[in-house]
Amino acid sequence: MSTPPADDPRLDQSAATDDSLIAAHEKLLGRQKDDQGHYRLLPLGLLFFFSALIFGGGTYLGLFSGMFDPRVYDEHGHPPKAGAAVAKLDPREVGKKLYNNAACNTCHQVNGIGVPGVYPPLAESEWVSGSDERVIRILLYGLQGPLKVKGVDYPGTAPMPSFGKVAGSGYNWSDDKIAAVLTYIRSDFGNSSKPVTTEQVAAVHAKEGDRKAYTQEELLKLP
Ligand code: HEC
Repeated sequence: MSTPPADDPRLDQSAATDDSLIAAHEKLLGRQKDDQGHYRLLPLGLLFFFSALIFGGGTYLGLFSGMFDPRVYDEHGHPPKAGAAVAKLDPREVGKKLYNNAACNTCHQVNGIGVPGVYPPLAESEWVSGSDERVIRILLYGLQGPLKVKGVDYPGTAPMPSFGKVAGSGYNWSDDKIAAVLTYIRSDFGNSSKPVTTEQVAAVHAKEGDRKAYTQEELLKLP
């Protein structure tokens, strides 16, 4: 048996303690002392950063995407130049929606032909296409009592409701809406009369204020 040289590391083994062994293993495994039981700051920071990014992105889309509605969302859109005309909605389109939204269509029907003996027709009616003064009042304040339309007598047992923003109206439509629906019924169902403007409706509204439904007799006195 040969004698080991004096610097042989095995000679140290007898002097090894538990602590020195653990330290030696940790060194071999590449671990660092403060690795255990602690979060590292960098990954935690990145987690917050990306969470904030996702939250911010979601909020931005929620606020500014217009739900990707093509009428709102335009990926190549430019803000309008100062003074540029803003496109206005066609009152006939607005009026058509109002007409068919369970307002007029329930009585006068979608095609404006009415219901014989109860609801008079709007199609080719002289009341619709004739005097603006009269038809504006019918819409604002309603109509009751006997009525003749296209040579046919209606008993007036069912009244025409008032649609304007007037006392006793269940609808409270703005003068704008009244003008739009009138413009629509004067341009569909075979009718082709000129549009009714909001200003015309507002003028009649201001002149008459709050009042009860009209009768045929009262209307016929108007121009
Ligand atoms: C609840 C049923 C009802 C609703 C809703 C209704 N009307 Fe009428 N409307 C009538 C009746 C009934 C008359 C006839 C009243 C009379 O005989 O005195 C009439 C008459 C008219 C007249 C004059 C007569 C004619 O045929 O031209 C016009 C115009 C008119 N309505 C338009 C409209 C418009 C526009 C709407 C919707 C904004 C509407 N009405 C909603 C029942 C209704």
